[in-house]
Order: sequence, then C-alpha cells, then structure tokens
Amino acid sequence: MELNVNTEKGAAPGAPVLKIEHLHISFTQYEQGLRREQMTVIRDLDVEVRAGEMVAVVGSSGSGKSLLAHAVLGLLPYNASAGGKMEYCGSELTPDRIEKLRGSEIVMVPQSLACLDPLMKTGHQIRKGRTDKRTKNKLKEIFRRYNLKESVEELYPFELSGGMSRRILISTALIEEPKLVIADEPTPGLDLKVAKRAMEHFRELADMGAGVLVITHDLELALETVDRIVVFYAGESIEEAKASDFKREETLRHPYTKALWRAMPRNGFQPTDGVQPYAKEMPEGCPFAPRCRLCTAECSKEIPWRELRGGRVRCLSAM
Ligand SMILES: Nc1ncnc2c1ncn2[C@@H]1O[C@H](COP(=O)(O)OP(=O)(O)OP(=O)(O)O)[C@@H](O)[C@H]1O
Ligand SMILES: [Mg+2]
Repeated sequence: MELNVNTEKGAAPGAPVLKIEHLHISFTQYEQGLRREQMTVIRDLDVEVRAGEMVAVVGSSGSGKSLLAHAVLGLLPYNASAGGKMEYCGSELTPDRIEKLRGSEIVMVPQSLACLDPLMKTGHQIRKGRTDKRTKNKLKEIFRRYNLKESVEELYPFELSGGMSRRILISTALIEEPKLVIADEPTPGLDLKVAKRAMEHFRELADMGAGVLVITHDLELALETVDRIVVFYAGESIEEAKASDFKREETLRHPYTKALWRAMPRNGFQPTDGVQPYAKEMPEGCPFAPRCRLCTAECSKEIPWRELRGGRVRCLSAM
C-alpha cells in the first residue's frame, strides 16, 4: 500500500528527529481548596528518536508516558508546567513550531478513544475534510488493511466498537505524511493479528525515514518490531536498551527493567514486591530503591546516566 513520509526537508537517516533532555512536568494543585501546591509528576526524562528508528517507551501506569506525548504535541493540561529541552529535527520545538507541525509532520495516535470528535463522521475525521482522490484512495487502503468496511466512513464515533475506534485513531495518523509519529497505547482492544498489523504499519513508516515513538504496556508485542526501548519509572527514564537486549534477563541493566522482563507472559508473569512511589512521596535518589534488592546507602544520592554494554542506565549496581 502507498505510505508517504515527508522527506523534503529535515532529518537525514539516523539523525535525531526528536530529542528530549531533562523533561520535567509539574501540576499546580489546590489542597483543600486553598493551599496552592506543585506536584512534580515527570522529574527527569530523556528520549531520543532518530530518522528511520522505532522506539518504544515502556513503564508502569502513571509514570508519565502520556504526559510525555502531550508535551511533544503541545497538549499539556492548563495546570501543567514543563521544563527541559525538546528538539525536533535539530532545533528547538517551540510552541509556535508545534502548532504548525501538529497533525501533519508530527502526528499522534492518542491513548483515549474520547479524542474522536463525537459529532463528525469517521471518514471526514480521518481525511480532515480533504476530498481529493489520492486521500480517498489512501483511506480505502488503510481500511482494507484494518478490516474496516468502506461504510464505516459514514459512521459516527458512538456507532463504533472499542476496537473499531482504536483502528480509526490509528488511521487518522497514518493518512498523513509524518516525519514523527507518537502512538500512545495504540493497540489495547485490538485482536493480536490487527495489533501486529498496526505495529508493522508503524515499522514501515520508520523504514521509510520517519521517527516513530510507541508508548505501550505490551512489551512482548513491541519487541517484535521496535529497535530500542526506553524504560520509565516514576517519572524518570532509567534505561535505554536495544530490543535484542530483552532476549535474556542478563543482557538488561536496571533492576526495574529486569523486573519488567520477569513479568512478561513468556517469562512466567513473575511479580515484584512493592509499588511505584506516589509523586508526592518520592524517595531521594533512585525511585526504585525501596523495591530494590541491590539498594545501598549510595542510592539515595543523585544517580547519573552511565553507558553500559551498548545501552544506558541510571543505576549504581548495574553491571
Ligand atoms: N491534569 C492533571 N492534573 C494532575 N495530575 C495529572 C494530570 N494529568 C495527569 N496527571 C498525573 O500525572 C501522572 C502521569 O500521568 P500519565 O497519564 O502520563 O501516565 P501514564 O504513564 O500514561 O499512565 P498509563 O500507563 O496508565 O496510561 C499520573 O499520576 C496522573 O495522575
Ligand atoms: Mg497513558
């Protein structure tokens, strides 16, 4: 099928499309209606996606994955404030630039099905009102690929099942000619075959030169298609690994990444004691320290990134 990636200008193969360093996001909240408080949810987050690369972001629920996507797209809620460095194709991603690129060069598959406009038919929504032949044909091909009948174009979002809505959200991004795709949990509710097809579709966009960032809980599915994995824990990125590092626990680095590996279905769903700390009760230093067998007194200090065996880790004990 015809897939288009905008190659007129921008990142050369392998050059960073998206580079985020030290992203931090906090919310202003009012305690008991009166006292103003800052709650830092993302503390220190680094992610890089290069042209031609597909990167997965994995991490526990509430670790800030969707906030990361919303920060890139300039869609943070009004009570959020963000800091750190965000670059797109080598220069700063300013609010003005995001405004211009969102929906065309930079596209997002949102996590929430509620992002579909309830008052607009799906076909019109995906085509963003365009009626040219090329766009219409492209939509037909996307529908064929996702087992959606052509008549679905005429339906309103309330007439769709959860799985159909998910496929419509994916189609909305794939009809563009993006240089950067951010897919936030694109596969829940899809049967395995369609979920795999969606991941392959993102892979094709990467192979054609786009940078693709997929946020997912389905590590097993992601490992089949992505190049690299960035692991988040409690608002911090704590490891960057190649997908092939996940073949064995020993080739991983951070104790939390190893815990994720052990919890995968193919490794026997082995649980790890404890829970991710609440944003207002973060320990000093490593956020995983309270759950970690390898924890020492040194772990309560700031933990720097370390290059290790072709990846990066924020852990003093990783070898
Ligand atoms: N508008 C808001 N005001 C206050 N806190 C918020 C707001 N939006 C998100 N948060 C908090 O920020 C944290 C990170 O949320 P986020 O949605 O990014 O998590 P996530 O990693 O995407 O989780 P999931 O895997 O469940 O989708 C959560 O603890 C959430 O409660
Ligand atoms: Mg989320």
